[in-house]
Amino acid sequence: MEQQSETTRLKVAIIGCGRVSAKHIRAISRLSDKMELCALVDTNPDAPSSLLHSCKKKIKNYNSFCASIHNYIDYKEMLSDIHPDIVGITVPSGLHFQVAKDCLEAGANLLLEKPMTMSNKSSRELYELAQNLGRVIVMGHIYRYFPIVSLLHQDMVDGKFGKVGHGSVIVRWGHDNDYYHSAAWRGTWKSDGGALMNQSVHALDLMCYLMNAEPVSVSGMIANRFRDMEAEDTALGVYTFNNGALCQVEGTTSTFPNDQEASFFINAEKASIRIGLRKGKPSYSVTTPKGKNLAFKYLRRYIKEVGLSYLIQVAKNPHYGIYCDLYRSITEHSAPVADGRSGYVAVDMVLGFYKSVLKKSEVGLPLPSEFKIEDMTKVQLR
Ligand SMILES: NC(=O)c1ccc[n+]([C@@H]2O[C@H](COP(=O)([O-])OP(=O)(O)OC[C@H]3O[C@@H](n4cnc5c(N)ncnc54)[C@H](O)[C@@H]3O)[C@@H](O)[C@H]2O)c1
Repeated sequence: MEQQSETTRLKVAIIGCGRVSAKHIRAISRLSDKMELCALVDTNPDAPSSLLHSCKKKIKNYNSFCASIHNYIDYKEMLSDIHPDIVGITVPSGLHFQVAKDCLEAGANLLLEKPMTMSNKSSRELYELAQNLGRVIVMGHIYRYFPIVSLLHQDMVDGKFGKVGHGSVIVRWGHDNDYYHSAAWRGTWKSDGGALMNQSVHALDLMCYLMNAEPVSVSGMIANRFRDMEAEDTALGVYTFNNGALCQVEGTTSTFPNDQEASFFINAEKASIRIGLRKGKPSYSVTTPKGKNLAFKYLRRYIKEVGLSYLIQVAKNPHYGIYCDLYRSITEHSAPVADGRSGYVAVDMVLGFYKSVLKKSEVGLPLPSEFKIEDMTKVQLR
């Protein structure tokens, strides 16, 4: 990788100007000393201007921010014109692999949205390609960037919580049928997957990060209870981890869209950790065996480490933290928090779960060979 100086403004492009890309735009606009948005790409020629317009109120110096942006409908043309240092990839999940591969080969570093790709084989291939080319992939695993999470991870790594007994993760991220009807790729096995692959994949990743462990097996069941989609709207299962811990998982999109919730629980010898997000409101508790809640202590430590203004930005928009991390990783040649490896491990976790549904038995992880998600069309969902 070329040497980048601390003050270099990196050129950023975004490919895919749909729902999530607004979070990328807002994050980049807050980092104008470090990066410049140079291109927006979408096959729908109206999408870039609609996207910018939708972000107008949240972007300071909107006109000057927009002045450097060129719009494209073909990302390959953009890559050869702009030579971006960073590409934010926010196209439908089924396109992640090809777009990410082309961007890496054109010399870009990536903020790749989750899930990394739709296959365990291609996710690993992307990770290895980036390693070989000396490029950085940071994943859109937003939960890793929530306040205090990095400290909890570090204390787990340092053994401060003792042995982990078990964990539990709940993702009740309700979406209605209008959401599934809003684009042809949503809720399909080939291009999106269901509640696990889309809404829960980064929550599974957070459990690995917090428990400082990787899964060794999974057994699960899925159903489609309420939503008009091909893949599952509900999944329940259990993972075992390489530290012996069990982790139960509930992932669903069939709950009410106005009551979205993600909750994480870890039962360790010296602390029980709860992180939650419900209706956009975060909650944290780190309880000692004597019942003392250390959450404020962690928050104070976190503010001391990252500063109040970073905390405010990242609490409003975790993608801000991801772009900061990517910038640091490129300029300081350090590994990002949500690295490419976390991307393919999380995809492997989801596909292992799906395989266990198909096989009706527990499945070992990592998967020994490619599991084709299209095989899930053989499963009868109720
Ligand atoms: N990290 C997060 O919190 C988060 C949140 C939501 C979505 N996501 C992920 O982001 C991705 C996009 O999700 P979304 O809800 O924004 O989807 P979306 O359908 O709203 O947007 C996708 C955009 O990509 C465009 N597009 C399609 N093919 C293209 C191509 N070949 N070249 C350029 N543009 C193309 C579409 O026209 C559309 O505007 C998905 O992988 C999803 O899982 C991540």
